[in-house]
Amino acid sequence: MTKKIVGNWSFPTSVRFGPGRISELPDACKATGMKKPLLITDEGLKDLPMVRDAIAANEAAGIPTGLFAGVKGNPTGKNVDDGLAVYRAGDHDGVIAFGGGSGLDAAKAVALMAGQTRPMWDFEDIGDWWTRADPDGIAPIIAVPTTSGTGSEVGRASVITKEDTHEKKIIFHPKMLPAIVISDPELTVGLPAHVTAATGIDAFVHCFEAYCAPGYHPMAEGVALEGMRLIAEALPRAYDNGSDIEARADMLAAASMGATAFQKGLGGVHALAHPVGAIFDTHHGLTNAILLPYVMQANRRAIEEKCEVVCRLLDLASPGFDTLFEWVMAFRSRLGVVNTLAEIGVDVDRADEVAVKAKGDPSDGGNPIELSVADYTAIFRRACVGDLG
Ligand SMILES: [Fe+2]
Repeated sequence: MTKKIVGNWSFPTSVRFGPGRISELPDACKATGMKKPLLITDEGLKDLPMVRDAIAANEAAGIPTGLFAGVKGNPTGKNVDDGLAVYRAGDHDGVIAFGGGSGLDAAKAVALMAGQTRPMWDFEDIGDWWTRADPDGIAPIIAVPTTSGTGSEVGRASVITKEDTHEKKIIFHPKMLPAIVISDPELTVGLPAHVTAATGIDAFVHCFEAYCAPGYHPMAEGVALEGMRLIAEALPRAYDNGSDIEARADMLAAASMGATAFQKGLGGVHALAHPVGAIFDTHHGLTNAILLPYVMQANRRAIEEKCEVVCRLLDLASPGFDTLFEWVMAFRSRLGVVNTLAEIGVDVDRADEVAVKAKGDPSDGGNPIELSVADYTAIFRRACVGDLG
């Protein structure tokens, strides 16, 4: 019997999941009270039929919909400012966040900023800074993911690069959680295999780092474990055959699960991937995919037991750190991921700068052991040259 891959979920927000459900976009706009939304998406998506069709469906339903497609990979403060200008000039009343991690994050930031008077950097995810925002000035958001990695569609934050300091800042507000998510796996079938791999491993790293982060959160750990199981099974299938809609559905669900789980914390992989991405403009998922085994080695003494559990879940013989490490290495190469940061244009000479920024990154706090600046320098250097001991 074919697996049923349609469902309506209310955790962690309202999710309409299943093939073809993008047709419900006009209804979702009505449900959230949007009469004149702005669809915000990645630069590379603006001419694709899925974007044009979504806007046309809204127009046909009497919901005039604007388009802003000026979001680059690793979106910047300027991308958000540009989107905000279009939002205000068009007198819009809601945001349709449509795309991969960059498009979703920039769109959510525009929605946050719609009615604020303070600069966006005042809402960085530090302490209670989010309370500085006027909640009535935040526009409603409908999220439509087109990749399976970021999970930003179910998250309350955006990662935006601050241009003057080359830092990725996490901008946070509880009302940045989209009111409705439309998760339609058919929108992800056109993703090239290498993007499927990189974004899919990002989702795996979200689950793995959340599972290994310290702290008591069995709910997040349960979600993380099932996310890893789904990815291990579905990502190779989606990579080999982009039209395998069941595999695409499992990956889309797992991506949302990773982002749901990482409210428990992330760790050293993300702490390093953020400055590497901000300085060298590398793809976030690919950067994580390369870094994962190097950070696992550094964390070894703290994650032995967790690795055993993951091995049992993945049905691997001889559960333990070494077995999971070997599995990660094989999984990565099976998906065509290179082994060093040097191969994606990262320069080892900036190790000290990367390490200082990694130590200051919010994800550092979730790492299972304390990593010093010197530790980050060493991990980064090994990842640049491929030194796995
Ligand atoms: Fe990530």
